[in-house]
Amino acid sequence: MSQFVGAIDQGTTSTRFMVFDHGGNEIARHQLEHEQILPQAGWVEHNPTEIWERTRAVIETTLTKANLTAADLAAVGVTNQRETTVVWNRRTGRPYCNAIVWQDTRTDKIAADLERAGHGDTIRRKAGLPPATYFSGGKLRWILDNVPGVAEDAERGEALFGTTDTWLIWHLTGGIDGGVHLTDPTNASRTMLMDLETLDWDPELLSLFGVPRAMLPDIVPSSNPGLFGKTLASGPFHGEVPLAGVLGDQQAATVGQVCFRPGEAKNTYGTGNFLLLNTGEELVRSKHGLLTTVAYQFGEQKPVYALEGSIAVTGSAVQWLRDQLGIISGAAQSESLAAQVQDNGGVYFVPAFSGLFAPYWRSDARGVIVGLSRYSTNAHLARATLESICYQTRDVVNAMQADSGVELDVLRVDGGVTANELCMQIQADFLGVPVSRPVVAETTALGAAYAAGLAVGFWSSTDELEQNWQQDKRWEPALDEQQRERGYARWKKAVERTLNWIDL
Ligand code: G3P
Repeated sequence: MSQFVGAIDQGTTSTRFMVFDHGGNEIARHQLEHEQILPQAGWVEHNPTEIWERTRAVIETTLTKANLTAADLAAVGVTNQRETTVVWNRRTGRPYCNAIVWQDTRTDKIAADLERAGHGDTIRRKAGLPPATYFSGGKLRWILDNVPGVAEDAERGEALFGTTDTWLIWHLTGGIDGGVHLTDPTNASRTMLMDLETLDWDPELLSLFGVPRAMLPDIVPSSNPGLFGKTLASGPFHGEVPLAGVLGDQQAATVGQVCFRPGEAKNTYGTGNFLLLNTGEELVRSKHGLLTTVAYQFGEQKPVYALEGSIAVTGSAVQWLRDQLGIISGAAQSESLAAQVQDNGGVYFVPAFSGLFAPYWRSDARGVIVGLSRYSTNAHLARATLESICYQTRDVVNAMQADSGVELDVLRVDGGVTANELCMQIQADFLGVPVSRPVVAETTALGAAYAAGLAVGFWSSTDELEQNWQQDKRWEPALDEQQRERGYARWKKAVERTLNWIDL
């Protein structure tokens, strides 16, 4: 009897493979970064072949380190950066171009034109998304228009589209020798091409974007025992393991945080921040700038939906301090540097590097730092960066409460930035709500493992998974309301300064 479940987590900056036991405890992991290719301002690309190679390597290294074989794994789940668009050739296995990453803004005109032509409401109604650079549909249109040969091959079903889940599953199940071409509704719900009610590609949306159906994967439930196929003996597992769960990474974190009941929410602090509120079987349409998305679909059960507040730049603003400005040497130093000052010294930083996502959806925005004086230091900027993470979260929490009427009594958090204790305290202060972090902070990989393990009966039900969740630390709000509201009003003013910067 296999004792463990594996999870591939293909993220924006790195890929990891993790192994969990029945209690949801981590047994082993290995992680490798891949190159962030930035050919010009606003463009962000990944090399899909490098991602597949990194995936192979992290699987093999994890299994070797922990002395495990395929036989020890009851199932494997896959979770992934969402929206990032890969197009490859079915016969050669070669990508036609680099993947266009979710943060990439080259499709800003495509999005603006759709809105100007009056198609915005159709996309919002059917796909639950506003036309924006963020989602795959525009990126796919761009590739069809700009990369030689793709449009012709797509019509013939020879050029295949996928987000990175689809790309990896195709490879893991045989690639050019019969790899399966599939995705799940959580990933498909980020393309602007799927109807949220039918959970299938929508002919009207496909024709708006000019995307041939032949290049799209089939959409199957996020957790299922047979449809995704099995890994091959010739692949990195060196044996057959059922691929039984696929979830976009933010939906996976929602599952990993066991937010199975309507009204339960989690906030993941990664490259960006993603707050998801489970709305159950009800499809709630946002009036306040949130997305409607599929949270998960387990087996034959009805899909569960979520409202999502997506923020493009949070952890990556800290990376920017390190890589572009060189004022810190690592993420941990953002905490010690920011802790040198009591407050932001009047400095506000709105990192609208990819425009502004929720709740604003402004592709024309670009980042600003305002409130500088002769007194301002690196420490103030580091503090303003952490504050920007927390103010952006407050923006989406406000929208969430306005849309759902649900008052948050605690915010469940996870992701890399939650290691920053100062940032978590600031978050509790800015929301006036406690913040709670679980023992297993790798909720994304855990959620994918849960989806796979549920499918094969490794876990019997979501009730069993709820028992696994344990709190590690909780931060209580300590800022008085007047100070909190004064700071937030300033933040809103700073956000206004970012708008109308790019002409579309
Ligand atoms: O929608 C983008 C999101 O899925 C990326 O998440 O954790 O890879 O930054 P992450």
